[in-house]
Amino acid sequence: MSLKDKLETLQQTALEQIAAAENLKVLDQIRVETLGKKGPITEVLRGMKDLSPEERPQVGAFANEIRDKISQGIEEKKVVLEEAALEATLEEEAIDVTLPGKQVPQGTRHVLTQIMEEIEDIFVGMGYQVVEGNEVESDHYNFERMNLPKDHPARDMQDTFYISEETLIRTHTSPVQARVMEKHDFAKGALRMISPGKVFRRDTDDATHSHQFHQIEGLVVDKNITMADLKGTLEVLMQKMFGADRKIRLRPSYFPFTEPSVEVDVSCFKCGGTGCNVCKHTGWIEILGAGMVHPAVLEMSGIDPEVYSGFAFGLGPDRVAMLRYGVNDIRNFYQNDLRFLSQFKGESQC
Ligand code: PHE
Repeated sequence: MSLKDKLETLQQTALEQIAAAENLKVLDQIRVETLGKKGPITEVLRGMKDLSPEERPQVGAFANEIRDKISQGIEEKKVVLEEAALEATLEEEAIDVTLPGKQVPQGTRHVLTQIMEEIEDIFVGMGYQVVEGNEVESDHYNFERMNLPKDHPARDMQDTFYISEETLIRTHTSPVQARVMEKHDFAKGALRMISPGKVFRRDTDDATHSHQFHQIEGLVVDKNITMADLKGTLEVLMQKMFGADRKIRLRPSYFPFTEPSVEVDVSCFKCGGTGCNVCKHTGWIEILGAGMVHPAVLEMSGIDPEVYSGFAFGLGPDRVAMLRYGVNDIRNFYQNDLRFLSQFKGESQC
């Protein structure tokens, strides 16, 4: 067999093998076997030294041509096989995006947290800072600094869980007033703060009493703060929370730490004031306690009551939630029954 014939047969066999190759591994084997250093083409080229000078260039060119053809065949087949491999993987790993997804159970913020955040937003919008107080408080801040010295009869209004004689879990958020006032620097502007949080009283639990509930304390102190500021602020709050038509009224009341003290009512958001079951047919709903900060309270916190005055209020988010959603038992908020809690999806899911 002449060298040319040999090369032709070689080309044919190689091309057939390439066509038959089923995967990239086999294809690579063919490449190594036909074009490699020990392969037949290299061998033919090596044998060229025995050819005549006329034949040599012809055979050489032919051998190169064949080698190129085989390489090209391999390259083309490689592309085809690679594509097929990719197709296979894609098919194997395919997901049906039209299948319904798995529902991941999502919680919601507790209804009381939602109410408190809503109130915080209203006050932050009016330039108040939100302050966190201590749930475990001293008798000093909870009572004495709030103008309730030891043995003061008004302490009975807030019967308490004592941890020791001087330490208790706070009965109201008012001690935060004293903690903030004593640190405030009026050179930096007026004091405006709210403080939401848990409070505790040794109450017997029933539909409207819980030994643990929530309050939001509010306090503003500056020069020339008057009752009109208190009234205007609370009116805005009530209108934002219960509707733009709401009115408020102030009734005289008593708190040891405010003078004068008031009980604040809001016009009924359900009947608008004509009388219904929500307002017990009075047209008004009792919503919070407030007053002008007692001079003694200012003084004990190092603020001169001759120069500065302020107002304070204490609001119950539990009561707000009960009114707004028609919840008739406060204990629902604290029993962690998902059938109750999941009704309040709120706007923001956590
Ligand atoms: N601390 C009072 C209470 O718990 C509420 C209150 C706060 C009243 C601030 C007036 C001013 O009953």
